[in-house]
Amino acid sequence: MIDFTVVRQYNYPTTIRFGAGAVRELPAYLQTAAIRKPLVVTDPVVSQLGFFKDILQDLDRHFIQAEVFDAIHKNPVKSDVLAGGARYAESDRDAVIGLGGGAAMDVARAIVLRVNHHRDLFDYDDLIGGDQYVTEAVPLFVTIPTTSGTGSEVGRSAIISEEDTHRKRILFSPKLLARMVFADPMLTMDLPPFVTAATGMDALTHNMEAFIAKGFHPMCEGIALEGISLINQSIAAAVLKPGLESRAKMMIASLMGAVAFQKGLGVVHSLAHPLSSLLDTHHGLANAVNLPYGMRFNYPGLEPSFARMAIAFGLEGKTAEDLVKHLFALNQQIGLPIRLREIGVRQEHLETLADLALADFCHPNNPKPVSRQDFRTLYQEAL
Ligand SMILES: NC(=O)c1ccc[n+]([C@@H]2O[C@H](COP(=O)([O-])OP(=O)(O)OC[C@H]3O[C@@H](n4cnc5c(N)ncnc54)[C@H](O)[C@@H]3O)[C@@H](O)[C@H]2O)c1
Ligand SMILES: [Fe+2]
Repeated sequence: MIDFTVVRQYNYPTTIRFGAGAVRELPAYLQTAAIRKPLVVTDPVVSQLGFFKDILQDLDRHFIQAEVFDAIHKNPVKSDVLAGGARYAESDRDAVIGLGGGAAMDVARAIVLRVNHHRDLFDYDDLIGGDQYVTEAVPLFVTIPTTSGTGSEVGRSAIISEEDTHRKRILFSPKLLARMVFADPMLTMDLPPFVTAATGMDALTHNMEAFIAKGFHPMCEGIALEGISLINQSIAAAVLKPGLESRAKMMIASLMGAVAFQKGLGVVHSLAHPLSSLLDTHHGLANAVNLPYGMRFNYPGLEPSFARMAIAFGLEGKTAEDLVKHLFALNQQIGLPIRLREIGVRQEHLETLADLALADFCHPNNPKPVSRQDFRTLYQEAL
């Protein structure tokens, strides 16, 4: 039963420019906003790509002097953010552009926070009420995704790990929303097959977990179902035979996944996060492997919701178990593993993984409770 006497809040405020060539609008946008010296935050792979150099040249032609900060880790850590914040101050910047995958956009967002907030970075951790300290102004923030997975371009949080323990911490504030998103699928045209597959499965996991997460949020649920449908239509093509249509559908569906997951995520992300902390596994890959097992755990009792997701997958009338089998097949079709042992997990990791998963922040929104024993069993099944 839904309690309609509870007052809920729904937020969809980001302006998005989406389509092939959208990024060419960046210089004019910055000029209109009187920005002359942005810090462009990216990663050391993207900063070497042809399109990145083209974007910088385009800024230069418009007399916008960009400073590039690309010294970030694959799973970003606090020192990345501190170094980026220092670079912003030293080089007297006036805006932040997060250009890259989820890692680069998360560091960019954390730098946006850092500029005028100088407590210890993890004092701003949302889980310990840190957003109460986000009181100062933040610089103008633009995001430009170059992967289709995290949807961090429309997010309000940055996931940054502790230096030594690698525990993931969340910095969150509505102030950390990008003012403008340029979502240009052309930037993902040369994304390698593995990254396309792994990031795409992250996006699929967002849409599926958001759809069944606890709470009443029909707007998120509608977006999530359409996101599932778009990914199901396009992920194999994006990996195996990419073209503008598949790349564009993946890009908008990943953005939609992040809009949808303001409703919450669940057991799959809680299974995935410890793999990145402990073994540095790519976030999307960790989700991809765990997704079928997590969904199999969830469906008993949730068959009506799974029937609706089955329609989005083009599996109308099929059972929830058929849907789980479809997820295994999808992973195999796009060249991803379906067992944890294939990504370096060993029996002796499982106890630590179960402890970390239980401490994770996502599963409280899972539609059913998840105990430490459940996590241990799920890891064992997936091993
Ligand atoms: N803020 C959020 O809401 C949120 C949600 C989920 C995940 N995350 C975080 O996002 C990160 C993962 O992001 P991701 O999956 O985008 O991976 P990523 O940012 O690590 O990028 C994956 C790889 O692809 C490369 N790459 C990026 N764009 C490319 C392009 N156009 N062409 C060729 N190579 C390219 C990168 O250099 C990197 O090696 C993790 O740190 C995770 O914690 C954040
Ligand atoms: Fe994710």
